[in-house]
Amino acid sequence: MRGERSRFSLAGIIPFIVIGSILFGVGVLIGHFGIPEDSCPSFSSIEDDDISQMMVDECKAENIEENLRQLSSRPHLAGTPAEKENAEMLVNLWTEYGFDSVRLLPYDVLLAYPDPDNPNKVMITENGEVNFTTALKEEILRPEDDHPDVVPPFNAYSAQGEPEGPLVYVNYARAEDFEWLAKNKPEINITGCIAIARYGKVFRGNKVLSAQAEGAIGIILYSDPADYAVDGDVSVYPDSWWLPDTGAQRGNTFVSDAKGDPVTPGYPAKPYMYRLDDADTALPKIPVHPIGYGDAQHLLSELSGDEVTSDWAGSLAVTYRYGPGFINPERKVKMSIHTSREIRTTYDVIGIINGAIEPDRYVLLGNHRDAWVYGAVDPSSGTAVLMEGARVYSQMIKTGWRPRRTVMFCSWGAEEYGLLGSTEFVEEYQKVLGERAVAYINTDIAVRGNFSFRAKSTPLLQGAIYDAAKKVPDGETRERTTYDVWVERLPDNSGSGLPSVNVLGSGSDFAPFMYRIGVPCSDFTYTYDTSLSISSYPVYHSVYETFYTVKMFIDYNFWRHQSVARVMLEFSRNLADSVILPFGVLDYANKLKSSIDNIEDEYGDKMAAQDITFEFVDSALTNFTAAATFFEEELTDIDVNDPIAVRRVNDQMMQLERAFIDPAGLPDRKWLRHVVFAPSSVNYYAGDAFPALVDAMYQIDDDIDQVTRWNAVRKQMAIITFIIQSAASTLTDVTQFG
Ligand SMILES: *[C@@H]1O[C@H](CO)[C@@H](O)[C@H](O)[C@H]1NC(C)=O
Ligand SMILES: *[C@@H]1O[C@H](CO)[C@@H](O)[C@H](O)[C@H]1NC(C)=O
Ligand SMILES: *[C@@H]1O[C@H](CO)[C@@H](O)[C@H](O)[C@H]1NC(C)=O
Ligand SMILES: *[C@@H]1O[C@H](CO)[C@@H](O)[C@H](O)[C@H]1NC(C)=O
Ligand SMILES: [Zn+2]
Repeated sequence: MRGERSRFSLAGIIPFIVIGSILFGVGVLIGHFGIPEDSCPSFSSIEDDDISQMMVDECKAENIEENLRQLSSRPHLAGTPAEKENAEMLVNLWTEYGFDSVRLLPYDVLLAYPDPDNPNKVMITENGEVNFTTALKEEILRPEDDHPDVVPPFNAYSAQGEPEGPLVYVNYARAEDFEWLAKNKPEINITGCIAIARYGKVFRGNKVLSAQAEGAIGIILYSDPADYAVDGDVSVYPDSWWLPDTGAQRGNTFVSDAKGDPVTPGYPAKPYMYRLDDADTALPKIPVHPIGYGDAQHLLSELSGDEVTSDWAGSLAVTYRYGPGFINPERKVKMSIHTSREIRTTYDVIGIINGAIEPDRYVLLGNHRDAWVYGAVDPSSGTAVLMEGARVYSQMIKTGWRPRRTVMFCSWGAEEYGLLGSTEFVEEYQKVLGERAVAYINTDIAVRGNFSFRAKSTPLLQGAIYDAAKKVPDGETRERTTYDVWVERLPDNSGSGLPSVNVLGSGSDFAPFMYRIGVPCSDFTYTYDTSLSISSYPVYHSVYETFYTVKMFIDYNFWRHQSVARVMLEFSRNLADSVILPFGVLDYANKLKSSIDNIEDEYGDKMAAQDITFEFVDSALTNFTAAATFFEEELTDIDVNDPIAVRRVNDQMMQLERAFIDPAGLPDRKWLRHVVFAPSSVNYYAGDAFPALVDAMYQIDDDIDQVTRWNAVRKQMAIITFIIQSAASTLTDVTQFG
């Protein structure tokens, strides 16, 4: 594929799009605006509401079910033939649909695989003799779940090695768990030990980094029934959705502000690209390995030391102890890890429907295609939805309709290894996407539970998500709207009367769009009951994440998948087809205000003691809110028949998210450049508002260098003031400078 540059190069066609769009755009604009409504060309003769209803009606649960059955019929791990075959399947399908262009984009990236001839394992040794070995693979509990391509449980990018030492239990291996140990159990020295930690609460990569920083020589991760089999004593897979004791969670362990290919941070993994040596990356320096709770119980049952504090105990039938070391002092734990890191090719598929009037404005919908095993939930529930969305668009186009703006369907490769496909794409096309992408709509796992629709989003798009959810029947009974169930089950806890919309955090492919180049993003899923307090759906990243699981325990009629697909369709249609972009600039102002209020509540007193006030931040906020209010008022008066005026305000709205990008990046995290939102630095999954300020305040009292720390806080307050004021200036009347 490397030779076929012209075929795969988006950059190559850009001049044609631009020239084409100018000529075509002018023609269409004259056509569109220069004549009375009733004699418009065919693509605009169908009213928005009709198209919206047609799209919702056309989207079929049966099709999504069939897509998922196909996609999850075999493993499709990144960098394997199955991943490529699925990519080619989408290229063929979207070409048949009559999309204007379909690209297969290869990237040569660093991936990781266990060695089939030298399986990874954890052992108990006694004087050099092996007394116990963990399972080499998960037990197959239904014959249909067997397939030669099932990769055994492993943690991608683990270091190789055979460390041996005393075992020590570290709860979730969060930064706070190690701090708790240091304070309350100072006699426990992690250095030279192998840590065992339960999965959950934070991204596994952060667990590995924390254990490594404490001097652990290896870390074993397991899924405790307290987090993954809450009613496991009643039943587990295949009788319920709870994780059985042999289930183990695969997953990558790559923590980086850049994400994407670990050896080409910041730049696309093209054949010509310079690649770092592994040792110069942030990949783990210690072996890490996931096991099931059956094996974990065996290891934990032999631990010596004090009994753990109550909130450290999981629900296995053992007395949880810290260690370090076993009751029998002759015994040690030994890891044997031979996972290799290797460069392989992963593929993105981009299917493009050119916009009728603004082909140089892109609305992107994306989902990753690669899975650890069958991936019936992660990500194939989302792939099945994206595929049905693409089919619905193709049907609409056959009626003669065409969206005003370009719509791009994106199928990413190698997300599971750390957002590789999407990040490489954003890196390669950052200039054109930075200028022209209107929004990126992500669905990774489309359905993970049967409770309610849930959205994460920039505040800019939340109003449009509500609007879409109000037009779509909910997936439980189809009798109420998705919005009605959402607002009832997941209300915003501020008492606004609206459904909650969470900050984006990370953990999926929106991250490079949002945090690198400031493209407004949203992420949709249908989720489980939050009162279950589980860290994820139980069979996450295990061999039991099958079509059977989805059909039996999550969404038997696929109505929930359908509701997510329909919300995505209507939301994307609104973004792609509305004359004025459906962005809520005042919603952004309100979110900034509430985030600043939270920070002031939390840190205001401490800051005041250092003579740091909120005077300037508040002034910038007032200015931003005034500019946003003025902008929204002016918007109601805009002449929608004046294409220049329309383009002017749309450009201003497109600029707003980008205005929060600081090219310098966050302190020590230069590839994360969004000043308002970014993944938390102690948990890559979670999001924080004003992350650099929150980081600057983190445990500030314990730092011996108070002067440096408080100066860092002062600097962040100034940057926040600047960025909000600067964003306000993008909303003020463009005929007046500044
Ligand atoms: C492991 O040690 C226990 C207790 O000493 C013993 O009963 C058992 O047979 C040993 N197992 C193996 C596989 O050596
Ligand atoms: C922990 O053990 C290591 C080596 O065994 C030693 O260098 C280090 O000082 C110890 N740390 C503490 C806090 O005792
Ligand atoms: C939702 O799924 C859970 C887990 O499979 C199940 O126990 C529960 O009964 C389901 N609820 C509904 C309303 O289908
Ligand atoms: C807010 O606007 C006022 C009036 O233009 C200006 O004086 C003030 O400096 C602005 N605030 C900031 C933080 O720039
Ligand atoms: Zn995923």
